[in-house]
Amino acid sequence: MKEVDVIADKDKKATRVEKAAARAEKKARKKKEKEKKKKERLPRGRTLSNVIFALGQIWSVSPGYFIFYFVNTFLYAPLDFLSGSFLIRMIVNSVESGQPRRNVIIYLSVIAAATLVINVSNNYYWNVLSAGKYQEIDAAMRRKLFIKASQVELACYETPSFYDKYVKAMDEAYDRVMKVMRTLDNLIWRTVTLFCNSFLLFAIDPVLIIFGLLPLLLGFVRSWKNKLKHDHIADRKPVERRQKYVRRTFYLNEYAKEMRLGDMHTRMLGELERTRRDFCALIRKYGWKRAIADYILDIGMSVVTVLGATLYAVWRTLSDGGMTIGDCIVVLNSISVVSYCLSNLVTTFAEFGEHALFLEDVRYFLDYEPKIKDSENAVPAPENCADIDLEDVTFRYEGAEDDTLRGISLHIGAGERIALVGQNGSGKTTLVKLLLRLYNPTGGSVKLDGRDIRDYTLDSYRDEYACVFQDFKMFSMSVADNVLLRLPKDGDAELVEYSLRESGAYERVARLDHGIETTLTREFDDHGANLSVGEQQKIALARAFARTSPVIILDEPSSALDPIAEHTMFENMMKAAEGRTVIFISHRLSSAVDADHIFLMDGGRITEEGNHRELMEKGGKYAEMFRLQAENYVGKGADA
Ligand SMILES: Nc1ncnc2c1ncn2[C@@H]1O[C@H](COP(=O)(O)OP(=O)(O)OP(=O)(O)O)[C@@H](O)[C@H]1O
Ligand SMILES: [Mg+2]
Repeated sequence: MKEVDVIADKDKKATRVEKAAARAEKKARKKKEKEKKKKERLPRGRTLSNVIFALGQIWSVSPGYFIFYFVNTFLYAPLDFLSGSFLIRMIVNSVESGQPRRNVIIYLSVIAAATLVINVSNNYYWNVLSAGKYQEIDAAMRRKLFIKASQVELACYETPSFYDKYVKAMDEAYDRVMKVMRTLDNLIWRTVTLFCNSFLLFAIDPVLIIFGLLPLLLGFVRSWKNKLKHDHIADRKPVERRQKYVRRTFYLNEYAKEMRLGDMHTRMLGELERTRRDFCALIRKYGWKRAIADYILDIGMSVVTVLGATLYAVWRTLSDGGMTIGDCIVVLNSISVVSYCLSNLVTTFAEFGEHALFLEDVRYFLDYEPKIKDSENAVPAPENCADIDLEDVTFRYEGAEDDTLRGISLHIGAGERIALVGQNGSGKTTLVKLLLRLYNPTGGSVKLDGRDIRDYTLDSYRDEYACVFQDFKMFSMSVADNVLLRLPKDGDAELVEYSLRESGAYERVARLDHGIETTLTREFDDHGANLSVGEQQKIALARAFARTSPVIILDEPSSALDPIAEHTMFENMMKAAEGRTVIFISHRLSSAVDADHIFLMDGGRITEEGNHRELMEKGGKYAEMFRLQAENYVGKGADA
């Protein structure tokens, strides 16, 4: 064999192996997807339980609304039948057989009166009595979800699978609860209508029932179609989330500046195009399958069932006179109704399955037991300032590959002023989050007054702290609300003014149209105030002055302040914090000079500690960083 042929042969073999591997991979992927989807389906018992849960939500808000909704259907469905098929048959038959018209007129009058009564009461109920019921049910659902959202630990927000459920629960809860109600309403309507029409058909000719039952054979096609629909919705979710994010970057104020710089908007438009392509790919993936399902259903329904029954009825009427003309007309109408109701009953059960699946996320979220909560024998935290100890604390964020805090042990005496310094990413903010018990340590323990903080009730423990976060947020509410961060009470105006004075924000706030009652941001108020970042930070700092907690934590409190404001704020804070513990984090090491104790963090560990003098004498990393900053201020050669 020539060398060229050998190479070509090897290439062919390699291609065959690659193709086989790709096929095997595709098969494995499909199997995995199938298993995943199978897992997503709920057992019947759980479906029923979720449906009952949804109905229970509505009942708990308004039993009257609930009862009326269904009683209405129970009355309306038979009336609809009696004023439709049944009436037509009666009229035609009485004309055909020459019966007195009086019976028809009496029947008509009774039906008209009943319809009138039901319509009037319906109108009154829906437009007057139950106005606002929708909103009431919506608000009750949201309230439950929001309360739970405020209880779950921060780690939940960082776990994608949990966060997905949370977002879905928020998106779907109300809608799904109401959809369960509508589906049940449809079920009742269709069952009653089916029963009335089948009874009539059976009375006319029992053979007709066979035609009516034919759509049941198409039940599996309907289930398949519903499954396709659900899969399609589930597959769309991640793409929709990405698309919503892109939209947010175009309309939210916080992105507006960056979007105008460089070419970010083109980059985002590209992302939008990518989501469009993904949507199209999904449509292609499901479009044909859904079309095939529809063809089968349409042909099965209209051609086989309705046409078959019609031909049979016409044949019986014309050939041997086994049916009256009235019966024949009713068959045409009722057979469509029966087959429609039957096939839709199958859909109705599939719909319950679909609602139950979405409600499962809602229930998962509502039933979630927060991991950070009061232990059984929790006691209130001490009211006075107490020592804080960390003993060999390690911590790793959910899903992270490495520990962020490693074996941290430190002691903070009651009333001490502590500076926590270190490079970006060294773990300072994480340490604060553990102190606040926003996370539990992965190992070791945090103690207050010699007792593990998990032994204290969560609320009383968090009351120990006033904290200004590095990534503080302003709410679109009044300045006073933003300072107090709680429900207002008497005497608050003085407290807010005092706090704003101490943090250096008062002068600016006093110049606003409505002083401390001015709304921050213009999102909901044309007279709202848009403040500079530094001004906002001063308002955030006022939060610490407004609380009398034994411990104050300030994470980068002066990052946006000018040097004069920073100096005044620190002086005021130290005065106001007399007798309280202050822990502050700052990259400006000049503010650490007066601290009683400084902890230097590096790579999740405490690598140096002591007061400023001790650390400078030690000549380690702190001294190096301090000198570097001082040089930048006063020029090279400056001494500490
Ligand atoms: N929610 C989170 N999930 C996963 N990792 C996180 C999370 N928050 C912070 N980290 C990681 O933990 C490390 C420490 O972050 P931390 O915010 O505590 O640093 P820091 O010392 O406060 O930094 P800076 O000075 O920039 O504020 C970083 O490497 C960061 O990537
Ligand atoms: Mg930080």
